[in-house]
Amino acid sequence: MMDKQLVWVRDPTDGFVLARIQELMGEEVDVLPLDNKHPRRVCSFEDVMPAGDPAKDVDDNCELMFLNEATLLNNMVERYKKNKIYTYVANILLAVNPYRDLPDMYSSATIKRYQGKSLGELPPHVFAIADKAFRDMKSLKQSQSIIVSGESGAGKTESTKYILKYLCDLWAKGAGPVEQKILDANPILEAFGNAKTTRNNNSSRFGKFMEVHFSAKYQVVGGHISHYLLEKSRICTQSAEERNYHVFYLLCAGAPQELRAALKITKPDDYHYLKNGCTQYFTTPESDKKLSAAQKSQQQQARGGLRDPILDDVDHFQALHQALTRVGLSDAEKKSVYSVVAAVLHLGNIQFEEEGGARGGCHVTPTSETSLATAASLLGVDSGELRMALVSRLMQSSRGGMKGTAIMVPLKTYEAVSARDALAKAVYSRLFDYIVHRINASIPFQASAYYIGVLDIAGFEYFQMNSFEQFCINYCNEKLQQFFNERILKNEQELYKREGLVVPEVRFSDNQDCIDLIESKNHGVFHLLDEESKLPKPEFGHFTHSVHKQLGTNNSRLQLPRSSRLKAHRTLRDDEGFLLRHFAGAVCYNTSQFIEKNNDALHASLEFLVQESGSALVQQLFQNTDNNNAKGKLNFISVGAKFQSQLSQLMDKLKQNGTNFVRCIKPNSRMVGLAVEGSLVLTQLECSGTIAVLELMEHGFPSRAPFQDLYSMYSQFLPPRLRTLSPKLFAEAIVHSMGLSTADYKFGITRVFFRPGKYSEFDTMMRSDPENLRAVIDKVLAWLVKSRWRRSIFAVLSIIKLKNKIVYRRQCLVTIQKAVRGYLVRRRHQPRLKGLAKIRALEHSLKDMESVSQQLKKEKDQALKNIDVLRNSIRNACGTIKTNDKISRTEIDQLFARLTKDIEVQMATLQKAMVDQKNREEQERLRKIEAEMRAAEEAKRLELERQRQEDEHRRLKAEMEARRKAEEAERLRQEEQDRQQALLLQQQLEQAAQADRDSRERLEQERRDHEMAVRLAKETNGHVEGSPPQLRSFPTMDTVNGENKLNRSERVRMQQAMQGKQKHDLSKWKYSELRDTINTSCDIELLEACRHEFHRRLKVYHAWKAKNARKTTMNEQERAPQSIMDAAKTPRLPAKGDVLGARHRYFRIPFVRPAAADRRGWWYAHFDGQYVARQMELHPDKAPVLLQSGVDDMQMCELSLDETGLTRKRGAEILEHEFEREWARHGGAPYHSNR
Ligand SMILES: Nc1ncnc2c1ncn2[C@@H]1O[C@H](COP(=O)(O)OP(=O)(O)OP(=O)(O)O)[C@@H](O)[C@H]1O
Ligand SMILES: [Mg+2]
Repeated sequence: MMDKQLVWVRDPTDGFVLARIQELMGEEVDVLPLDNKHPRRVCSFEDVMPAGDPAKDVDDNCELMFLNEATLLNNMVERYKKNKIYTYVANILLAVNPYRDLPDMYSSATIKRYQGKSLGELPPHVFAIADKAFRDMKSLKQSQSIIVSGESGAGKTESTKYILKYLCDLWAKGAGPVEQKILDANPILEAFGNAKTTRNNNSSRFGKFMEVHFSAKYQVVGGHISHYLLEKSRICTQSAEERNYHVFYLLCAGAPQELRAALKITKPDDYHYLKNGCTQYFTTPESDKKLSAAQKSQQQQARGGLRDPILDDVDHFQALHQALTRVGLSDAEKKSVYSVVAAVLHLGNIQFEEEGGARGGCHVTPTSETSLATAASLLGVDSGELRMALVSRLMQSSRGGMKGTAIMVPLKTYEAVSARDALAKAVYSRLFDYIVHRINASIPFQASAYYIGVLDIAGFEYFQMNSFEQFCINYCNEKLQQFFNERILKNEQELYKREGLVVPEVRFSDNQDCIDLIESKNHGVFHLLDEESKLPKPEFGHFTHSVHKQLGTNNSRLQLPRSSRLKAHRTLRDDEGFLLRHFAGAVCYNTSQFIEKNNDALHASLEFLVQESGSALVQQLFQNTDNNNAKGKLNFISVGAKFQSQLSQLMDKLKQNGTNFVRCIKPNSRMVGLAVEGSLVLTQLECSGTIAVLELMEHGFPSRAPFQDLYSMYSQFLPPRLRTLSPKLFAEAIVHSMGLSTADYKFGITRVFFRPGKYSEFDTMMRSDPENLRAVIDKVLAWLVKSRWRRSIFAVLSIIKLKNKIVYRRQCLVTIQKAVRGYLVRRRHQPRLKGLAKIRALEHSLKDMESVSQQLKKEKDQALKNIDVLRNSIRNACGTIKTNDKISRTEIDQLFARLTKDIEVQMATLQKAMVDQKNREEQERLRKIEAEMRAAEEAKRLELERQRQEDEHRRLKAEMEARRKAEEAERLRQEEQDRQQALLLQQQLEQAAQADRDSRERLEQERRDHEMAVRLAKETNGHVEGSPPQLRSFPTMDTVNGENKLNRSERVRMQQAMQGKQKHDLSKWKYSELRDTINTSCDIELLEACRHEFHRRLKVYHAWKAKNARKTTMNEQERAPQSIMDAAKTPRLPAKGDVLGARHRYFRIPFVRPAAADRRGWWYAHFDGQYVARQMELHPDKAPVLLQSGVDDMQMCELSLDETGLTRKRGAEILEHEFEREWARHGGAPYHSNR
């Protein structure tokens, strides 16, 4: 079965084609179109939709068995073929342009037929929508809007006209001229605001919102027109197939000869602003004949007139003229209007050419001088001034303000051309504003209660080359689409929710991001464009760049032109355009004209010129101008900004009103009847959001009526007893009794909802003939009886339920009572229980306190005693609570508080004691640490001191050793010297002895000779000559030994030395005198002499003593060890002062007493200068002997230091402290120097 199912398959040209499924292949389907001009194909499931009966058509698409885009398209196409151009999708009217007059379609009879009929009752019609709007206005007491949308040529303007006609025909009859004026507005607006384009011969190049105002009695009382965005570029240029605004051709073709002559109007070919486009007139065969050859352009002559069912340039001039008359323009005013129109044409003919010379300006070409003059005169300005204003620009030095120096800056040719075009555009667009203003002013306007506004504004537009106009209109359509989404989809779903209907949600693509991209205050495209215009040198490339930079990143809506699917767009550079993804598709905008088109300000000289015009009309046109020049560049109001504010006003209005939608559809691009291009229609359906609505309607309830409305609408048809019902019951009764399927309606909270088409069914029944109505009433009555019966049954059941409920509640009450009683008792005793528990819990703290107390050292006993006291008071408190059941909560609290406080106090005391104890221990510990540290420091210091001293001693020892060595060396040197001298002397002595011996021998010989002579003489009595030789005494060799010799010489020298020193002759001094002098004198020399003398005598004394002492006792009385005494035997030269040594020197040598040969004693000596000052003998076997000079001199060493030879003894000298230490240790008194 499945494989033969009839389906619609998406097709690129026809939209959808009928086909049969051949095979299902997982993700795809193999289909064979019925029409064999289409090939067999495999397509995805999304492109295949179920088909109902393709030949059947329905008024409301919601009534189709399968509701999808294919059946919708088919339904429309089928109907269109049958001249049924209107179709509903729920409450939205789809209108397909028939491109021909349909008989009786809009006749007065048809109008009458539709009056007061609810939607769906009659075949779909634009009148039905108008009527619905009117009825909604009446029933909801709310102004209404009818939004007519669609692409160019879809029939918006025509539909608008029919709506207005309907409203005026039916409800303006008594309103007199109002109706005519509202209807007259259209030909006038179309003449000035419509033009032939490739898409529509009568294309409206502006948007409009026409309001028909009603009185409180729902009669037409006035009207008002708002218009938006007149396309200005068309005034100066059109593409080859297109024309300028109709009025120019009306003037050429239809204006009377005199008028044309006065305005110097000839044929389109003669005008620069017309000749580049299509120059043919719209004519009918009859009107064609009225044209003279002079009026016809070459094209017209060659091809004849253009044909359109509603356009005729020849005849329509009169219609325009009359309409203008009817809206109140006087002949003079009309003439001025035509003059301005003609002036635009003549302005366009003013040509410029370069002016040779340094100024680089331009001038009007001689051939166009007449055009200049004509334009000037038609505009009521001086031609010279016009010329000046066109070829130069007034510049005011910024400092001077209004009175500042004005400079005329010459313009280049192209600048003059654009100034001219700007003037033409400004004049024409202001004329259009003026015309609208006059129409509005002409419509009488009494107190309006409500209005029905019809919005006719261009739909979404896209061409190969899209500029600022497309940008604005597409922005407007984005806003309208959003509004449509909100109204139809969002509101619908919200309403379902509010009313408690369960309807699946339909998703729609929200386009708020696109709107933000365009209009956002600080970074929308409009904002960036205005910012660019404020720069000193606005530049479209820079603008485009900033659009891409600031908006393009991370925005899928905005892309570079090269990402377009269209090859023509891909050639645009990045800074030449941008691609915007609108809800209906991507449009590539070329930005090159954006800046100019966004600023419609005239340059100052032109502005001043027209403001001062002699023509009242021209003056008026520029009277209330937003003088952008005066405001300055930074404050100018751009075209975009103006449009934005107009649009937001419009949106505000739309939001306040009830809304009805008419979606116009263009069946084909050839503008002919009966031909349908399926894909074109489908695109339009998608663009208008209709497909999304379908989805919603498939599940939804498009018709609805509040209960009250139903009541007021139908109660009049029903008998009085039914009228007493409440609106809700009334509605329920009649809806239920109508025999509608329960799936066809739903009751909400305030209203009843109907499935598509069911409301009309219901309405029809209600309004059917009395016969039928009676049957309905019977049904209603029957339903009421049944429902009342059901109600009483329901009441009985409810009462039984209620009884059960009461029993149940009684049980519940008992439970509650139990709970409450328990609660009350608990409430009475709980404080005591809790209090007891609380107070008992305090005992824990006592334990803590005890454990704390245990740690205490001093106050432990006292603390434990206190704790016992507390424990007792806790017990007392518990006792009190237990015994006294009247005790109040506060009393318990007080008890508890008191105990707590006591415990806290005690705890605090304990803690304090604990802390104190800890502090003390801590302090003690710290103190010990500190002492240890100090001791360590002291030890360290002492150690350092000791080391220092050791170093010092070592140094001193080293010094001492050095001194000793020096002395030793000195002594050796002296000895060596002495030895040398002794040797020398010995040699001399030996020589002398030899000489002596020789002389002695010689003398002996002589003596013997002499004796021999004497004896001979005696024997011979002879005589002897000469005397005997004399013998001289010489020392013998024995005495001349080395030692003696040296001794002698040494003594001699000593004596000589002593004598040298002996300035003072002390030999006569007494011993005591010497002692006193030593102790008291300050004369150092004398002192020293005394000391020598003193010691010399001591030596003498000791020598004497020694000579006379017994040998045995000598040792005992030794003043110094033997070695020293022995050393003294070797005479020495006294040391030369303290050159080598210090004044005080200390020595220690061992000695052995013969008595105890194995035990050594120590002999210490302190020499002050050359003589001993203190002397100490440490005996191994007896008490030490401590001697001091001045007291114990007799027992002390009498030798001078040099004599002792101590200085030469290695290791004998010690340091002062060593001596002092021993001295002190053995009880020696401190030494005070005598000197
Ligand atoms: N209901 C209709 N009956 C007969 N002809 C119609 C109807 N609607 C539109 N037309 C024809 O289609 C032409 C274009 O219609 P209309 O001017 O209303 O389009 P539009 O949507 O306003 O386009 P634009 O956006 O360009 O103004 C009309 O001139 C007329 O010839
Ligand atoms: Mg139009």
